[in-house]
Amino acid sequence: MSKAWSRQSVVEKVIGDRKAPAREASVAFAPANIALCKYWGKRNEVLNLPVTSSLSISLGALGSHCRLSPCSGSDQVTLGGETLEGEHPFVERIRDYLNLFRPDPEQSYKIEAINTVPTAAGFASSASGFAALVLALDGLHGWGLSLRELSILARLGSGSACRSLWQGLVEWHVGSATDGMDSYGEPLGDTWDELRVGLLVLEAGKKPIGSRPAMKRTVETSPGYAVWPDRVAHDLANLKAAIAAKDFERLGEAAESNALAMHATMIMAQPPVLYWKAASVTAMNDVWAARRDGVSLYFTMDAGPNIKLLFTAADEAAVVERFPALRVTAPALRPAEEA
Ligand code: DP6
Repeated sequence: MSKAWSRQSVVEKVIGDRKAPAREASVAFAPANIALCKYWGKRNEVLNLPVTSSLSISLGALGSHCRLSPCSGSDQVTLGGETLEGEHPFVERIRDYLNLFRPDPEQSYKIEAINTVPTAAGFASSASGFAALVLALDGLHGWGLSLRELSILARLGSGSACRSLWQGLVEWHVGSATDGMDSYGEPLGDTWDELRVGLLVLEAGKKPIGSRPAMKRTVETSPGYAVWPDRVAHDLANLKAAIAAKDFERLGEAAESNALAMHATMIMAQPPVLYWKAASVTAMNDVWAARRDGVSLYFTMDAGPNIKLLFTAADEAAVVERFPALRVTAPALRPAEEA
C-alpha cells in the first residue's frame, strides 16, 4: 500500500533542512486567478490533489497583499486594517495552515492582509491569499524556494492557490504522485496582453454552500461527474490550441462551456448545488445577446452567483457600454503598472 502523506510531511519534504533566522518582516503580493478550465473534484482531500489539470488567468493588480512578521502570544490577523477575532473562520484556517510552518510551536505570526479583490461580493480571495502568505513565509524565513515549490505549498492551503504564484495564463498539472510533488502550477509560455476579464458583481452576501463541500458532494453524488474528466481533457486541449493561435472565439467558447459543464455536474448532485440567481441567468442571456450583435464576449462562473466576462481589448468599449458596472482587469499587468 502506498504511504498516506500528511500535509506536514509534504512541507518537510519541500523545505528540507533550509533554516535561516527569521527576518523582521516580509511583504508579498499574489494575484487572484479565474479558471478558464476549472478545478472541480479532488483525488486527495488532505493535499488538495485534483482529479484533472486546470488552466487559469490572473487578475493583474487584483489579489492579496500580505505582510508577515513574528510576534509573541497568539497569531494576530488583520484584514484590510481590521483585527479579526481568534474564532473567526478565516483566522482558524490561517492558523491551521501556519501550524505546518512554525519553526517552533511557540512561534506566532502577525499577518496583515489586504485584499484588492472585491471579497464581500463573493469573488474568491483564498487563492491569492494563500499564495501571498506562502510567498511572505518564504521571504520571512529565507528559504529561497522556487515558485514551483511554493506552488506545492500554496496548494496545501487551497487548491486553486497553486495557480496564483504567477501573472498571466497558468496551468495546474494534475500530477500522479501520491505526495503531490508533480501537482503544481506552471505559467504557459504564451502570453496574451489583449485578454480582458470583467468582474460583474450581481449578488453580495453569503453563498448557500462553500465551494469545498460543494465539490465533495458533486464528486460523491453527481452522476454527471463521470463525464467531467473527459470534458476537461477536451476543453483544456481546445484552450491551449486557442491560446497558441490567439483565437479568442475558440478560447471563449471552450471557457464558457467548461464553466457550464462544471455547473451541470453540481446541479446533478444530491442534494443539488445551484449557485445561479435570477440575475446570473439574465447576465448569461445578455452575454449571448451581445454575441448575436457581433460583440465577441463570453462568460465564466465559479462557485457563486457572480459572472466573469471574457473579452479582448478590441471589444472593451462595447462591453463596458453594455455592462456599465463592470470591473475590468488586464491579467498581464503587474500591480505597479495598473492605474
Ligand atoms: C470553482 O481552490 O477554493 O473556483 O482546494 O477546497 O480550497 P479548495 O478549493 P478551491 O476551489 C476552486 C473551485 C473553482 C474552480 C477553479 O478555481 O478552478
